[in-house]
Amino acid sequence: MSHRVVAVSILALSFALAACSQEPGAANGPGETTPEQATAPTPVYAAPTEQPVDPFTYANYRQIRVRHLDLNLDVLFDEKVLDGVAVLDLDYVDSDATVLVLDANDLDIKSVEANANGEWSAAPFTLGPDDPIKGSALEIELPDMAARVRITYRTSSEAEGLQWLAPEQTAGKEHPFLFSQFQPLYARTMAPLQDTPAVRITYSAKLKTPPELIAVMSAAQDPDATRDGDYSFDMPQPIPAYLLALAVGDFGFKAINDHIGVYAEDYILDASAAEFEDTPKMEEAINALYGPYKWGRFDMIVLPPSFPFGGMENPRLTFLTPTLIAGDKSLTNVVAHELAHSWSGNLVTNSNWRDAWLNEGFTSYVENRVMETLYGEGRAVMERSLDLASLKRTVAEAERPELTALKMPADLAHPDDAFSQVSYAGGMFFLKFLEARFGRDAFDPFLRGYFDHFAFKSVTTEDFLNYFENNLWANNPDAVTKEEIDAWVYEPGIPDTIEAPTSDAFAKVSAQENLWLAGEILAADLKTDAWSTHEWLHFLNALPDGMMVEQFADLDGAYDLSNSQNAEIAFAWYMKAIAAGYEPAMAPLDSFLMSVGRGKFIYRLYAALVEHDRRDWAAEVFARARPGYHPIAQRRIEEIFAKAD
Ligand code: BES
Ligand code: ZN
Repeated sequence: MSHRVVAVSILALSFALAACSQEPGAANGPGETTPEQATAPTPVYAAPTEQPVDPFTYANYRQIRVRHLDLNLDVLFDEKVLDGVAVLDLDYVDSDATVLVLDANDLDIKSVEANANGEWSAAPFTLGPDDPIKGSALEIELPDMAARVRITYRTSSEAEGLQWLAPEQTAGKEHPFLFSQFQPLYARTMAPLQDTPAVRITYSAKLKTPPELIAVMSAAQDPDATRDGDYSFDMPQPIPAYLLALAVGDFGFKAINDHIGVYAEDYILDASAAEFEDTPKMEEAINALYGPYKWGRFDMIVLPPSFPFGGMENPRLTFLTPTLIAGDKSLTNVVAHELAHSWSGNLVTNSNWRDAWLNEGFTSYVENRVMETLYGEGRAVMERSLDLASLKRTVAEAERPELTALKMPADLAHPDDAFSQVSYAGGMFFLKFLEARFGRDAFDPFLRGYFDHFAFKSVTTEDFLNYFENNLWANNPDAVTKEEIDAWVYEPGIPDTIEAPTSDAFAKVSAQENLWLAGEILAADLKTDAWSTHEWLHFLNALPDGMMVEQFADLDGAYDLSNSQNAEIAFAWYMKAIAAGYEPAMAPLDSFLMSVGRGKFIYRLYAALVEHDRRDWAAEVFARARPGYHPIAQRRIEEIFAKAD
């Protein structure tokens, strides 16, 4: 506490000094300057005058921008394809442009028409060679200033952004299920479009499904829609293509309040609504800090276990893994995280995957503030402490040092590489550093101003730094140095200015752990009664290499960790068990890998199995589990095996 008081008074002093020397800059958009700035010294961080090219798109979005997408699709479960028509409304940035280049991946394009002066006519098109990451360029020749194009197409049954589940792969076992996952570049496997976060579109859609199923999208929809197989959607707010989303299946809905609710298969619907009952309070917490939620409804859908992520921030309809339903709300930081994306990411979007930390780091920061507001500093510190441990591991294991600075290198091989703990935890700790140096009284309104200023825009790291310089740093120039900022944003490794979290609760866990490791107490004597999931995770992650099989057996006998129903705890335990060759965990690990498709767990488990001489065992499990995994997960795990060969 006294620490906080000192920080505030130093801040007040530097504020007074700053006020004499420098006026705060106005809230500028990228590239604009004010008269004050024109006379002031050259800005340290200049905003880019034009947005950088996104290397992961073919789209010629600097000449023509798609403004609106209208989809009319039949959902054909027998063939595992979407079949129909996409109409794109165009805005010309360059009025001389005569070719529209779109992203497409595995799409079967039947015909393309263009509308100029109110008339539809066939438009010549070519589909370029298939790149393993980017897919193909769909080049369309446009008659003069065509305002719209209409593309008749079908998706492939192998589309990487769609997972088609057979009835047996659902909990209900009676109906098939379809869900999408389009971040970072799979929207182009669902429709031809400009698949870059630099471009935002509104969309409308009609989906035709088997009449007994319900369809939902990341959009507004009629809450009283009858289950008849005919569904309409409208997303009036401009979003990047990666936030398009759909799910079709046999699931129910339970309201949490008048604008928040959850969709899930029957078996887990009540449990999901109970697990996520604090979501309204989370929303209030963020509203109070950064201004009102702008997207109307915030619904969630709990997907089948093959969903490859913990959560995905599809606007108005967050997608979640069922592994969050732990029964004790201990994993709901993921809900706080996806909700936080409604500000950081969905409202203000990274314009390039090199700037992914603007989405994920800001969101992890807001997430942690929410956890602090709802559950107290103790829990927030534990979560940061676990994050720091995994950030350290990520930095230590990084393939290239360039991947350990917040701004990702220009030659990023795949957008996925931008989504490591560096962007998440590194970004969060950078903002924690700024928060500490400038104080919450200045930092909170600053961040709110940033979300307002860039709302519904796509921005780069440099846009942020320029805004920061003018709207926070200028008011308190001594709070940080350029060297300190650069170390976080542009230089590899974890800067020594990090605000390292210290958790008293974790210190107690470590004390117990050390007694047990020293053989002074038995596992059963550990005082675990009041341990939360977080304390268990801290305990498990700190288990040293080279532990004896007998020690594993002692822990397992006392706490049945091999069969933990908490996916995070089970995962942490299996990682240690694999490294130490603790056999009794292998059968439960087999069932875990057969029933959970969340990438964060299974990629590392397969990699650890391969590394610790269980390649054949892992390959045999993978052969059985593979058909149930999401296409994204299948590819990632194949890469893990291929790398080891
Ligand atoms: N946007 C991400 C998920 C994502 C990242 C999808 C990269 C595709 C590519 C989502 O918001 C997220 O970060 N989910 C995390 C949860 C979070 C609490 C760290 C996850 O899935 O574990
Ligand atoms: Zn996220």
